[in-house]
Amino acid sequence: MKPTQLLSYIYPMTKTIASKYSGILEITWHNGKKYLNSKNANYSYGSLQKILKFGIEQTKLKKVNSILILGMGGGSVVETLRKDFKYNKSITAIEIDPVIVDIASTEFGISEDEHLHIHCTDAYSFVKTNKEQYDLIIVDVFIDLSVPDQFLSETFWDFLLRLKSSRGDIIFNAAVKDSKNENIQQLIGYLKTKIYKVDVYENVNDTNTLIILKSL
Ligand SMILES: C[S@@+](CC[C@H](N)C(=O)[O-])C[C@H]1O[C@@H](n2cnc3c(N)ncnc32)[C@H](O)[C@@H]1O
Repeated sequence: MKPTQLLSYIYPMTKTIASKYSGILEITWHNGKKYLNSKNANYSYGSLQKILKFGIEQTKLKKVNSILILGMGGGSVVETLRKDFKYNKSITAIEIDPVIVDIASTEFGISEDEHLHIHCTDAYSFVKTNKEQYDLIIVDVFIDLSVPDQFLSETFWDFLLRLKSSRGDIIFNAAVKDSKNENIQQLIGYLKTKIYKVDVYENVNDTNTLIILKSL
């Protein structure tokens, strides 16, 4: 065990890195585990990782051959897919922040390889222009505690639904403690007119709202 990891059982150890998009980011060792946090939110490898794991459990991952992740962060969902679910097929991950792409690689060992393609770009533009389809799409785009408004718009979801294969599912991490948000409620209503099944899970891990869209 590294000295930092060992000491973190006695007291949390944090280093900070400035990001143009998310303000001050914190990489914290606590009780032997490393986390990526923004000022008010856990971005990767903590509660967020558990929340997305719950989402994946609601899907039929065995039938999935390709995954698109919008909002790669430190890559904790990539770790979950590989370690907990033994998923070793294709993953395409989109992340707007080059500082975070670098943190994913240097701090958490998540970098491009034969099965992981990382695009450092805006997820909205990617979804608007991309033509490939995926069997599972995970939407986890946050700036600190909020999902930017554009990802709650019907236009974005019209673009996104084109990228879902005919048997594909979508996991949308929609809110932290704000599920009654009018924009989210409106979006849920819209999605129900577009897709076979829309399941809304509130207070996942006591905090987040996950929306899971399922194909027939
Ligand atoms: C909660 S973190 C993602 C955590 C990640 N899914 C994981 O498994 O560790 C949210 C991420 O969304 C990214 N983000 C915010 N706006 C974005 C955008 N317009 N396009 C792409 N990524 C964006 C942030 O930089 C941040 O890394």
